[in-house]
Amino acid sequence: MGSRIVATGRALPRTAVSNQDLERFMDTSDEWIRTRTGIGCRYTLRSGESLAEIATQASRSALERAGMKAGDLDAIIVGTVSSEYTFPSFACQIQTQLGADFIPAFDVAAACSGFVYALSVADSSMRAGDFRRVLVVGADALSTFVDWTDRRTAVLFGDGAGAAVLVSEPGNRGVLGSLLRASGKHWDLLSCRAPGVRGTLDSEVRRDADDAIKMKGPELFKIAVKSMEEVSRQVAERAGVKIEDVNLVVGHQANRRIISAVAERLGLPQEKVFINIDRYGNTSAASVPIALDEAVEQGRIREGDLVMLNACGGGLTWGANLLRW
Ligand code: UT7
Repeated sequence: MGSRIVATGRALPRTAVSNQDLERFMDTSDEWIRTRTGIGCRYTLRSGESLAEIATQASRSALERAGMKAGDLDAIIVGTVSSEYTFPSFACQIQTQLGADFIPAFDVAAACSGFVYALSVADSSMRAGDFRRVLVVGADALSTFVDWTDRRTAVLFGDGAGAAVLVSEPGNRGVLGSLLRASGKHWDLLSCRAPGVRGTLDSEVRRDADDAIKMKGPELFKIAVKSMEEVSRQVAERAGVKIEDVNLVVGHQANRRIISAVAERLGLPQEKVFINIDRYGNTSAASVPIALDEAVEQGRIREGDLVMLNACGGGLTWGANLLRW
């Protein structure tokens, strides 16, 4: 018995922040951001806005499309590093808002690889027979962790949430395999200390620079390309699938150049790659499920297609899931 994504959903904060908006208070330019990253715009939380509510909205939308109620779920697994509380978990907050009391709910902390990790955990638990219907969410608000005076990181991140409903099913559709990797020795390429205030762009409160996101961009870039290529090849090989038969890669949207380089190294044409970084920036664990939801909505994924999800992020963590849609 395997697991299959039967519906997806997404939700974003209300406020869109364009590169031109950033140009007004930061020494940056639309031209630099677009050419170096592919980002044109991102959505950021405003003070008073709740990421848990946004993630619940994405979850409700996925449940509705699946024709299911929260009460039909057996578990909620959330990829996030943005919970406002150390505990309770973000998953428990979503569980309460959905009204799905008593079912297990827990977070998976793998930064930008959070959704890929959470999907793998959900699939394994379902194969083991523990759950039959699982809500998997990716949600992050890294804009609240940046130092807004650091142009090297502040322009990159956006906030949001994506969700997928998985149902256990016999047959050869669904999750064909997942592969997860981590390398803690590279922790300092992308990190953020846990304490400190959260500062939204519109608030007077500013996160202390020492506690803000730190990134060694160029080093991370190289590892991200190599690791996502390798893990995608390996997951396909294990599933007995030729990489050239993959119909669409829906990867973590950290940088348009990374996504294109991974596709190139995999020998896949650019039309087999889904890109929406231009509108959302890097939404961390939310980026893969938001992209997946849009790809489905736009008809880029059809029944029977082979879909590769891949991601790399702080930890370092990386991984891939191969799906037969
Ligand atoms: O989500 C987890 C995974 N994330 C990643 O894998 C991210 C990987 N890294 C990257 O995507 C890229 O390294 C960045 C987008 C972060 C940076 O792009 P880059 O081409 O590697 O730029 P750089 O850091 O080497 O900086 C080049 C120049 C520098 O100027 P100097 O020192 O050469 O004079 C920077 O100061 O670009 C400058 N720069 C900027 N200029 C205008 C850096 N950020 C900006 C900016 N606006 N926002």
